[in-house]
Amino acid sequence: MQTIAVQRTTHPKQKPTDSSKLGFGNYYTDHMFLMNYDEGEGWHNPRIVPYGPLELDPAAMCLHYGQEVFEGLKAYRAPDGGVALFRPEKNMARLNLSNDRLCIPPIDEAFAVEAVKELVRLDQDWIPEGEGNSLYIRPFIIAVDAHVGVHPANHLLFVIILSPVGPYYPEGLDPVKIYVERQYVRAVKGGMGFAKTGGNYAASLKAQDVAAAQGYTQVLWLDGVERKYIEEVGTMNVFFKINGEIITPALQGSILGGITRMSCIELLQSWGCKVTERRLALDEVVAAAQNGTLEEAFGTGTAAVISPIGELKVDDQHIVINGGKIGETAQKLYDTLTGIQNCRLPDPFGWVVRV
Ligand code: COI
Repeated sequence: MQTIAVQRTTHPKQKPTDSSKLGFGNYYTDHMFLMNYDEGEGWHNPRIVPYGPLELDPAAMCLHYGQEVFEGLKAYRAPDGGVALFRPEKNMARLNLSNDRLCIPPIDEAFAVEAVKELVRLDQDWIPEGEGNSLYIRPFIIAVDAHVGVHPANHLLFVIILSPVGPYYPEGLDPVKIYVERQYVRAVKGGMGFAKTGGNYAASLKAQDVAAAQGYTQVLWLDGVERKYIEEVGTMNVFFKINGEIITPALQGSILGGITRMSCIELLQSWGCKVTERRLALDEVVAAAQNGTLEEAFGTGTAAVISPIGELKVDDQHIVINGGKIGETAQKLYDTLTGIQNCRLPDPFGWVVRV
C-alpha cells in the first residue's frame, strides 16, 4: 500500500462553537486528502495537506463536461471516545461503479478507505457533539486535463474533504413535504442515474427550485420513459409502506444504489418485515392513500439518514401520510441505524469500522 505523506496545517481554523447550528455543508476541517492520476503512472502521490483552494486550469475538463464522481459517508463519535465509520467499503465500491460509467480509472478501494481513516484521525476533533450531528466525508474525483475537446481524461485528481454537519433538512426528523415531478426527469436507463456524479444533481436543480418555491422540501422523481413509476426523492431513496408491505423501487439503472437503502432493507429483513424491491407505480401509491392502506413513506440517504414524508403533492392533490407524523417503521429504522452508527447499539452485521 502506498504511504500517505502528511503536511499538517500551521494555522488551525476556529471550529464552529454552536453544534446545534451547523446545518449541512457549511464548514470544512483543517486538512484534505489529494492523490493524482496521470496516464502511464496510475494513481500516485497520496498526501494530506492543509485544506485550501485547488489550483485548476480554466480548461480543466471537469469544468466543461462534468467528468467527475463523488461519494458521501460519515464519521461518528462513539460513547467510548473512539471514532466509527459506517460501511465505508461500500462507498468505495460504489465510487468504482461510478468511475466505470464516467471513464475514470478505478481506485484501490481498500487504500481509499485507509485514506479516509487517516484523514478522519487527523481531524477527529472536528466531529461535532450532539444528536444527529456527524462529520460528513466527501471523496470526489475530477478530470483535470486542460483540454476542451471531449474525451476521457488522462489526468485526474482524487480529493477527500470533511465537513462537520447537522441534519441535512432543517426539518430534522420531522416529516418533509414532497412534490411529485411530472415535467422534468432525473435520469433514464442507459444514462448515469445509478452513478454518483454531479450531472445527476445538476439535472435535478430546476425541478427542486420549482418545488421549493411552492413550499416543498424535495422532488419525487418518476421514471423517464413512461413517467409512471417511482424512482427516488431528491437526495434520497424512497420507501412506502402499503398494507404492511414495505416497498422500495428496484434498482434498474436509473436509481442510485444507496448504502442507507441497502442497510434499511437488511434491517427490515432481519426484523421479519415484508420488504420488496420492485417497480412501484405512482397510481398504486395514490390508490393506497385513497383506500386507507398507505401507512408510511420515508426517504433514506447518508446525508438525510431517515426522513419521513408527511405530505405528497400529486398534481392538485395533497396526500397527507400517517397524519403528517413519523411512522413506526421510519422511527425504528432511524433509532436502530443511528444507534449502530454511533456505537450506542450492538452491531450484529459488522457494519461499523473503527478509525
Ligand atoms: C449523501 O446522502 O451522501 C449525498 O450524497 C446526498 C448529497 C447530494 C447531499
